[in-house]
Amino acid sequence: MMNINEFQTDRLIFRPLTLSDAKDMFKLDSDPVVMKYLGNRPLSSIDEVTLYLKNIVKQYETNGIARWAAIEKYSGELMGWAGIKFIAEETNGYKDFYDIGYRFRPEFWGKGYATEATMAWIEYAKNHLNINTLYASAHTENLASQNVLKKCGFILTGQYPFEIHGSNLDCFWYELHW
Ligand SMILES: CC(C)(COP(=O)(O)OP(=O)(O)OC[C@H]1O[C@@H](n2cnc3c(N)ncnc32)[C@H](O)[C@@H]1OP(=O)(O)O)[C@@H](O)C(=O)NCCC(=O)NCCS
Repeated sequence: MMNINEFQTDRLIFRPLTLSDAKDMFKLDSDPVVMKYLGNRPLSSIDEVTLYLKNIVKQYETNGIARWAAIEKYSGELMGWAGIKFIAEETNGYKDFYDIGYRFRPEFWGKGYATEATMAWIEYAKNHLNINTLYASAHTENLASQNVLKKCGFILTGQYPFEIHGSNLDCFWYELHW
């Protein structure tokens, strides 16, 4: 297995997140529109983002993988993140699995970027991680996310309450095997 520090698709660049991404990540996570299906708790301080980024950097060290920055080539802007996270905590009866996800600022929605990112991360998983299954969760009302997963070949196999901020999100559970 080869470790890489950046890769590109036609329109996107992916690289690990760093603490210097706090300002852009705050734009993302302080936006209530972005957080609509993610527990509705937009961040209100840059300190929270720094903590969040520190946690991601720690995951790179301990798990070898975590979400990466997603940059639009055209503008050079950091639009959000995409990628794979190792999840040790029990979720829908599973633990120690790899989850795929994405979160972009609204100005970058509707261009097929999440689909392009997800396809690329599936390839990454096939080539760089010693696994044959990826999992994903999406709120039952988050049709954009469900469409992305379906377009990328994920199969809906369950529904479960995802606990976040002390409440339960009604989520679908998706799997992709190869
Ligand atoms: C989910 C998200 C990443 C999608 O990004 P995107 O780049 O716009 O997605 P894509 O353009 O690749 O694909 C979205 C698909 O859903 C469709 N779609 C978008 N909004 C929709 C809606 N409200 N209802 C039905 N379909 C919708 C699009 O038309 C597209 O399908 P198509 O290619 O068949 O036309 C983006 O909306 C986002 O960042 N949301 C906030 C964070 C989030 O919810 N993350 C996912 C958590 S599970």
